[in-house]
Amino acid sequence: MLIDPERYERALHFAATAHRGQVIPGSDNPYVLHPATVAAELIAIAASEPFDVDLAVTCALLHDTVEDTPVTQDELAERFGDAVARGVAALSKSDALPKDQRMADSLRRILLETREVAMVKLADRIVNLAEPPHYWSRDKRLAYQAEARVILAQLGAASPALATRLAARIERYGGFIPAAPAPE
Ligand code: NI
Repeated sequence: MLIDPERYERALHFAATAHRGQVIPGSDNPYVLHPATVAAELIAIAASEPFDVDLAVTCALLHDTVEDTPVTQDELAERFGDAVARGVAALSKSDALPKDQRMADSLRRILLETREVAMVKLADRIVNLAEPPHYWSRDKRLAYQAEARVILAQLGAASPALATRLAARIERYGGFIPAAPAPE
């Protein structure tokens, strides 16, 4: 069995409770749809690449709980074990750092963890490269696409299947970026 459905349910319910009241930016949908979709990206490739699916999927379901809710790394360790808690900690941006350093810092910490943690980050960005909220500016979309290329370059070796999928989503995201305004 690649994943334990009871553990999946436990992690999904925990995430749903932690993220209660939060919505996907630009929509009315409950935020927990996001981690559940990230988990699906990992389940989708489980038959084609060998990895610890249970660890990756549990980290995916919980990946935003420490960054975006009052849940702590210690609480995750107690409920889901050390490997999951460490993974989620690496996937969480540190608010002690200036905003423009947070992603690079998180990527550095992800690279110190098991391959499954990098796979969650790849899957997270695959999902996040859906059509952006309508109010995102052109510059913000360009920066988000550029950041995705950095994630792919740094973490892509963790999973050929996810790297291929992320590259395709980066390409497709270009379709959500309006043409540059004509020079005056
Ligand atoms: Ni995410």
